[in-house]
Amino acid sequence: MNAEQVIQQFSATGVQTCFHGRHINPQIYADLNGSNWSIKDYEARGGYQALRKILGQDGGEGLTQDQVIATMKDSGLRGRGGAGFPTGLKWSFMPRQFPGQKHLVCNSDEGEPGTCKDRDILMYNPHIVIEGMAIAAYAMGISIGYNYIHGEIFEVYERFEAALEEARAAGFLGDRILGSNFSFQLHAHHGFGAYICGEETALLESLEGKKGQPRFKPPFPASFGLYGKPTTINNTETFAAVPWIIRNGGQAYLECGKPNNGGTKIFSVSGDVNLPGNYEVPLGTPFTKLLELAGGVRTGRQLKAVIPGGSSAPVLPAHIINECTMDYDSISKAGSMLGSGAVIVMDDSRCMVESLKRLSYFYMHESCGQCTPCREGTGWLWRLVDKIQRGEAKPADMDLLDNVAENIMGRTICALGDAAAMPVRAMLKHFRPEFAALIKADAAASQAA
Ligand SMILES: Cc1cc2nc3c(=O)[nH]c(=O)nc-3n(C[C@H](O)[C@H](O)[C@H](O)COP(=O)(O)O)c2cc1C
Repeated sequence: MNAEQVIQQFSATGVQTCFHGRHINPQIYADLNGSNWSIKDYEARGGYQALRKILGQDGGEGLTQDQVIATMKDSGLRGRGGAGFPTGLKWSFMPRQFPGQKHLVCNSDEGEPGTCKDRDILMYNPHIVIEGMAIAAYAMGISIGYNYIHGEIFEVYERFEAALEEARAAGFLGDRILGSNFSFQLHAHHGFGAYICGEETALLESLEGKKGQPRFKPPFPASFGLYGKPTTINNTETFAAVPWIIRNGGQAYLECGKPNNGGTKIFSVSGDVNLPGNYEVPLGTPFTKLLELAGGVRTGRQLKAVIPGGSSAPVLPAHIINECTMDYDSISKAGSMLGSGAVIVMDDSRCMVESLKRLSYFYMHESCGQCTPCREGTGWLWRLVDKIQRGEAKPADMDLLDNVAENIMGRTICALGDAAAMPVRAMLKHFRPEFAALIKADAAASQAA
């Protein structure tokens, strides 16, 4: 089935409403409609069959750890948390024979502006994440897991806790799952709403009860993770894709998307569209098709630009994004990132300087302050954009702004510095005349003198 056919088929089933708007639902994430999240509903739509399958509780022989990991590699699933790292490969890094405790962590911190998919998965289909984590734990020989849930969505944390209780009572979590030799204890952890705690090593620090600040890498979590023990961390949506892959096979998942970009992805479409919401479409879907699903650009307006992968992804002007398909390779070739899949649509009424000012304020506020280029640089970025926006800047300030951004990139412990710098550089690259127009004429004259 190609992307167009998948959309046709599932559009025909009707658009479903969810917490943040609408959810087009091909086949992976099931009915996110608010009332059918419980274990009874989940099992009725095939839930926990993948776990039964790997444990040989479905009449089959079961799958070995190697077979599960091979299936994940075949699927072409790339991590949905932002970096797009191949999931099967990540799982193969876990030293399975390590004699001590190993950990599995789900990253549900979801703090990237524009992104609101993980909270919907957890709220409306929590068992899909539990099952995905149990399968991952089995594949990597892990017996303890944690789901780190963003601090400002307490109702989602409560929903996940309720689902955990159901899964334990039904024997899908705990000791000797479904009578097998596999045991897995899973716990929910409530964060406090800091964006930096989504960075995987800051998350681990926070989970350990410390200040959420990123660690130097290497060592990577696969060898030195939670409490210094081998740890695998994946995003919520990544785990949620696992049961479907195990049930249907890696190849089937790969074919839902396009080579090197397997499966479907939930895009959180926000901004100047008629129908903002979460849309699940096959990777490789044309951007224009996704925009159409989201009701198109606000009535009476033209598309000006799109931030295709969450606020840290470089902005792309309309004429570039209109030629893209929504997958890691196409968006990267166009000079941006698919990131977390938050598609922020801006119409021709938007002032890019004002938009950048808001973004820069966010990164200044969320910098953890650990390394100087980020702590000081994010403040510089915001102050310079603010100065330009207030009409008090000199022409040289545009170059200074670009220079500060350039000097943050690649010089920090974690990627928050890059996340703050990339939007600045892309805005200047594509929309420099808008910045220049705000430079005071008399300032320009005085500098020339
Ligand atoms: C500042 C910052 C914030 C991040 N926030 C998140 C987040 O909220 N959720 C997430 O899954 N990954 C986030 N990441 C990426 C994680 O560090 C990590 O790559 C991801 O959880 C790995 O899961 P995946 O392989 O399934 O994508 C963030 C990274 C950085 C640098």
